[in-house]
Amino acid sequence: MIVTTKELFKHAYGKYALGAYNINNAEQTMGLFRGCINSQAPFIIQISKGARKYTDKRMLEGMIRAADEIFPDAVFAVHLDHGDEEACYDCINSGFYSSVMIDASSKPYEENVEITKRVVDAAHAKGIAVEAELGQLGGVEEDIAVSEDKAHLTDPEQAKDFITRTGCDSLACAIGTSHGAFKFTGTQGLHFEVIEAIAKLCPGFPLVMHGSSSVPQDEVARINAAGGNLAGAKGVDATQYLGAAKRGVTKINIDTDGRLVWTRVHREFFLEKPEVFDFRPVGKIFMEEYAKFIASRNDLLGSSGQLPAVKEFLKK
Ligand code: G3H
Ligand code: 13P
Ligand code: ZN
Repeated sequence: MIVTTKELFKHAYGKYALGAYNINNAEQTMGLFRGCINSQAPFIIQISKGARKYTDKRMLEGMIRAADEIFPDAVFAVHLDHGDEEACYDCINSGFYSSVMIDASSKPYEENVEITKRVVDAAHAKGIAVEAELGQLGGVEEDIAVSEDKAHLTDPEQAKDFITRTGCDSLACAIGTSHGAFKFTGTQGLHFEVIEAIAKLCPGFPLVMHGSSSVPQDEVARINAAGGNLAGAKGVDATQYLGAAKRGVTKINIDTDGRLVWTRVHREFFLEKPEVFDFRPVGKIFMEEYAKFIASRNDLLGSSGQLPAVKEFLKK
């Protein structure tokens, strides 16, 4: 059942975080739904601009509608990840999305406010929620590469002003994470004090953590042993997810870790079975492994087991 992101946030706030998982193809979609049903967790499906272009945006919508039928117990929202204005309006007008993210965080502050406000007005007119971003994460997003020296943490006072002036429904905050598999070079960690300061100034307001993949070291080692080269890959400590959730982070974005599962499964499979060229046996293994991975993340986010309570909450 596709529900509003807002309702999911209301139920989660301060207790647990919703896993926001990117999808690009059918195998990921099946693994995601299986993992969330197995762990009895509500969740958010994220579609990036790159994913919309990979096959066709209608293909993704079709897969999600099909998965909704195959897994009638699933409760989830559909969200545009890192949209620009054009992508946001396209999703708002499609009638399919629960929420959109306008990412104008690379623009100067006043321009970010202006753009975000325009998207919020258009989205709210159709009952769709908007996630905005303030501060800059390091790493690579689809169109923008942000070097570590340009990345900067969200300023809590500015966050309050931004939320008030734009009317956005949730805020992606830069707290020291970055996108991709190479997040930290040394002992850098998450800046929980930034989340705490924003939550104090904006109590009850849903915050979002991007770049949250944990880049499991056993996964990296297996990929490298099977011919990959991800030396130095490092991610967020996944045991910190729940701490972030208790402080007001209601949505935790995980994409890279899923790509690592895919890479490990496929590299190992074809290394062990060089004579095989049917893609279904390995696809089946990936779906199972991805479902297990998703359930393990939901356990850490605290969203596992919340499905019955969310369903009751949505009835009210
Ligand atoms: O933040 C970026 C997400 O991981 C989506 O990545 O734009 O390559 O689909 P993508
Ligand atoms: P990761 O690259 O850490 O998985 O982050 C994903 C993300 O933030 C998507 O918006
Ligand atoms: Zn992101």
